[in-house]
Amino acid sequence: MKKTNDREELLQALKKTSIPDQELLLNLGLFGSRRSLSRLLMMHDIYKKIIPVAGSIVEFGPRWGQNLALFSNFRGMYEPYNYNRLILGFDTFSGFPSIDPKDGSVLKKGDYSVTKGYEEELTHILECHEAEYPNNHRRKFELVKGDAIKTFPAYLKKNPHTMIALAYFDFDLYAPTKACLELVLKHVTKGSVLAFDELNWAEFPGETIAVMETMGLSAHALRRDPLNPLGAYLVIE
Ligand SMILES: C[S@@+](CC[C@H](N)C(=O)[O-])C[C@H]1O[C@@H](n2cnc3c(N)ncnc32)[C@H](O)[C@@H]1O
Repeated sequence: MKKTNDREELLQALKKTSIPDQELLLNLGLFGSRRSLSRLLMMHDIYKKIIPVAGSIVEFGPRWGQNLALFSNFRGMYEPYNYNRLILGFDTFSGFPSIDPKDGSVLKKGDYSVTKGYEEELTHILECHEAEYPNNHRRKFELVKGDAIKTFPAYLKKNPHTMIALAYFDFDLYAPTKACLELVLKHVTKGSVLAFDELNWAEFPGETIAVMETMGLSAHALRRDPLNPLGAYLVIE
């Protein structure tokens, strides 16, 4: 039997689709892979946990920003009048700014960069999502560009009232995870969720080490979502 690369075939099928433009976005599920659908469902599982919790959502390392778009839509579906649920993304938008020895030898400076000026494209996409829901005269998301070791404390200095209902850590790296996690802990409440994208993962050891050093592994119950083999989350109790 001919061996095919299903993902490549799906990508080509998407690029060549005859579905008319006005129906394409409604039918994107046709092209979703197990991996992409698992991720989407996992973000949905996490979002549902924070609906009763006060505070904003922060993603550390949104990159192309799909999670931010999902969170924006979940907010619109589940709590369309909660204009106090801000969605914040902290990224260099130029990949890893530096690598610590605790990150091991696989990762390189500049990995996970995006296309030039992508943050403007992402801003536009997030504006389009917000426009679909009530209170769309209010901007409820913010992208903060730069090294989060500097930009996150600066953001909190400017916004000392910040409460965090969900922090999604996806820097993959030791130093920014540790620096931001230490600050996040001062802004959470009982029920807030801290989720990590790469725990117990040998190729990206820094994230786990940052959690160990900041919180200890046994102080909270780190739970896995069956849809994400690498990540884990905890609920502040
Ligand atoms: C693995 S990617 C994130 C993937 C994304 N969350 C997703 O679900 O597709 C890691 C991101 O963290 C960002 N990053 C790593 N260290 C950073 C730092 N110190 N400050 C800001 N962004 C950083 C990188 O630029 C990159 O976009």
